[in-house]
Amino acid sequence: MSALAGRHVVSISDLTNGEIEGVFRLTDRFLSALQYGPLSLVKRRRRRGGKAPRNDLASVGRLCANQVLATIFFEPSTRTRLSFESAMQRLGGRVISVADPRTSSAAKGERLADTIRVVAGYADAIVLRHPNEGAALLAVESLDEQRVAELGRRVPIINGGDGAHEHPTQTLCDLYTIDREHGKIAGLNVALCGDLLHARTVHSLAYGLARFGANLKCISPPSLRLPRYVKRRLEVEYDCVPEEYESLSDLAAPDRAHVPDAPAKRRRRAVKRLVDDEQFLEAVGRFLDAVYVTRIQAERFSDPAEAAAVSGSYVIDLDVLRRIGKRTTILHPLPRIDEVDYSVDLDTRAAYFRQAAYGVPIRMALMALLLGRKRLRRAKKEAARPTAVPQRGAGEWITGVKCRNRTCITNHEPGLGARMEQIGETGLLRCAYCDQEQDDRSASGGTS
Ligand code: NCD
Repeated sequence: MSALAGRHVVSISDLTNGEIEGVFRLTDRFLSALQYGPLSLVKRRRRRGGKAPRNDLASVGRLCANQVLATIFFEPSTRTRLSFESAMQRLGGRVISVADPRTSSAAKGERLADTIRVVAGYADAIVLRHPNEGAALLAVESLDEQRVAELGRRVPIINGGDGAHEHPTQTLCDLYTIDREHGKIAGLNVALCGDLLHARTVHSLAYGLARFGANLKCISPPSLRLPRYVKRRLEVEYDCVPEEYESLSDLAAPDRAHVPDAPAKRRRRAVKRLVDDEQFLEAVGRFLDAVYVTRIQAERFSDPAEAAAVSGSYVIDLDVLRRIGKRTTILHPLPRIDEVDYSVDLDTRAAYFRQAAYGVPIRMALMALLLGRKRLRRAKKEAARPTAVPQRGAGEWITGVKCRNRTCITNHEPGLGARMEQIGETGLLRCAYCDQEQDDRSASGGTS
């Protein structure tokens, strides 16, 4: 298995299934080390020879000594930034941070590529969160061979969320939680529920779940279904066609599964609450192992009225809990707004606070591996559906065509042109940065 040292993590597809499993095994170790200490509730058996249990935390706490992590967050964050920073400090490393873009030179108009080239000189790894899709890939490209040679070392870039595109380290937390709660991922029925169009955590998680052989049920208002490019990639690369529903109760009536995209006139239609009829009953609970809920990503709507029209359209409350299975876990990347009622928190099936807490050991494992302080042990068993990292963009790139996604990084970074790839015979082009598709009638650029 290849080493992870010096690698970048822009997409969940940058890690193979075996590598993800390797991250999880190391996470197990770090999690148990974190549970050690004077206030520990975990009983530790004495080691052979009657010695006191080893204080793993002390040795773990030296792993990244003298290493510096930079967290550059151009969008709000609580969990991702603080758990990365906690992880690095737990490993004995240090952290420098831009938590507010108004305090960095971006506010003076500095290009992202320049910021990254500069910060790479100050840190051994960089976590970047940015409002524009493709920003993490641009950051990787800004550390070209010439800059790496100048630095004399590789500086891994980790995508902490790029616009509505991807959030791969949240997916590691999500998959790890599902694996711990259910003992496996393959064959599970997982409902992805909420704003599937804009939620980057959902896009990365859908790829991750599909690769590990889970079945996807997508539940959302018609206007917020998974983007076309995500669905295409699920189908082409992972042989996965998710079922689509408008409500959890529709799941109990499979003939209501939706296939084609909704016509535009339905976009503003108010949608019913998740559970609106008795048909739902036990049927849903019997076959759903997990429900992954996300908030309406209001900040990504061009028209705030559209966000308002769908807000409150799906709610997990005690009524839903009564109807789902005894082992159906409720997951949420957080923050929640109104989509999971507070009364749900006391139920053991509510896994979202456990999921958030795993963020620290998961990111400790990832950092230790990317910084070359740990090597992956061979995974005990390969995943049910092992998938090599897909070789994307292997074909010819078309340059000189503008990406029509207005929030793509190519439309915000001065001097950065879009790079497009033809998608087979579909007549569509895919943007290398944001992954979004557009028809190729306007393609007039050259190839490279
Ligand atoms: C998510 C994000 O930023 O995409 N939060 C997180 O990192 N846990 C989810 C969200 O903001 O809805």
